[in-house]
Amino acid sequence: MSRLELIATAAFGLEAVVARELEALGYEGLQVEDGRVRFIGDELAVCRCNLWLRSADRVLILVGQFPARSFGQLFDQATELPWEQWVPADGKFPVSGKSIRSTLHHVPTVQSVVKKAIVERLKKTYQRHWFQETGVEYPIEVGILKDQVSLTIDTSGDGLHKRGYRRQVGIAPLRETTAAALILLSYWNAQRPFLDPFCGSGTIAIEAALIGRNRAPGMNRNFLCETWGQITREQWKQAREEARDVVKGKFPMQLMASDIDSQAIKLAESHAADAGVIGDIQFRTLDVLEFKSQREYGVVVCNPPYGERIGDEEYAAAIYDDMADAFAPLSTWSIYALTSHPGFERCFRRRADRRRKLYNGRIECTYYQYYGPRPSGEAQTEMVPLFGDEP
Ligand SMILES: C[S@@+](CC[C@H](N)C(=O)[O-])C[C@H]1O[C@@H](n2cnc3c(N)ncnc32)[C@H](O)[C@@H]1O
Repeated sequence: MSRLELIATAAFGLEAVVARELEALGYEGLQVEDGRVRFIGDELAVCRCNLWLRSADRVLILVGQFPARSFGQLFDQATELPWEQWVPADGKFPVSGKSIRSTLHHVPTVQSVVKKAIVERLKKTYQRHWFQETGVEYPIEVGILKDQVSLTIDTSGDGLHKRGYRRQVGIAPLRETTAAALILLSYWNAQRPFLDPFCGSGTIAIEAALIGRNRAPGMNRNFLCETWGQITREQWKQAREEARDVVKGKFPMQLMASDIDSQAIKLAESHAADAGVIGDIQFRTLDVLEFKSQREYGVVVCNPPYGERIGDEEYAAAIYDDMADAFAPLSTWSIYALTSHPGFERCFRRRADRRRKLYNGRIECTYYQYYGPRPSGEAQTEMVPLFGDEP
């Protein structure tokens, strides 16, 4: 096994959630930065993190990091890095790039200088002048932030939000990684009732079921680095077997997911079936206003309509008003709602206990958090949000 510098990338606002996930997986000495968490691992860590991270976007290998203010510095230092440890003689190595607040801001030139530097290095190692790049892919990214260059190789391939269960998208679906983060930031645990009353394509409830069952979100898909020689079949087999061994049995009670749109419910059911959690979730076609429950200490995690288009704001406001009426009798429940609508608290008629800025794709949203009372007898530790902050 090698000592690898790894990076888990995260959407803005979710870095701390990803860091908590990495800690829970046993990684220490984490460095939390904008949009990413750096940590040390080995080849098995690459397999485990791809399989297990619920709220991260990708797992990258950091090949090198250095300051550069000229293309000459960029070329010389990129040539010094041991690219041959990763890229074989027939490997494909596309270079993508980004540059933020840096002297080297022309990204196409940055990419082409890095590509030339890698070719130069590989020419010496493999004693050839031309690379056909017909083999497996090692996607390289050059990122420059305030003149600090990071050179990484992507191990994930498709982003980690692609779990393999959502083939069709509903109206305004939430990314699986964001949905998982909403749950990890909540006080829900598998002993408590769970409801998403605006479930759409089912993402939040499905992610809750995967969390409650302790199922690795990446179990139903493949990752780019499975095609590489450096990370072996045995390592992947070990990581997958470990993940299979820790899956928990059935929930004490089914999760609830509803939506006013019966087509959305059909879609959500098919996604839950593909995710292997159909038996864990009870789906209903229901207007939120009609929701009633005798259960106590439940948790609502939802992503109601925002009213992003002109004219829809009033419609969204009316739904928040209905939510206020429907949830008023649920005095022991905790409620979490993600929306970009600025009038949410006014329409819902309650000030949130906590607000957190999060992004749904490019839309800036607020995650409104209303904490209900703790059930007596629930262990103190179970009440700590899985990956959230204390109220
Ligand atoms: C932003 S989408 C939710 C997307 C969902 N989180 C996903 O990942 O697919 C909002 C959903 O609220 C539903 N909706 C609108 N009005 C409703 C109401 N009065 N009661 C229940 N659901 C409603 C819509 O049908 C839509 O599916």
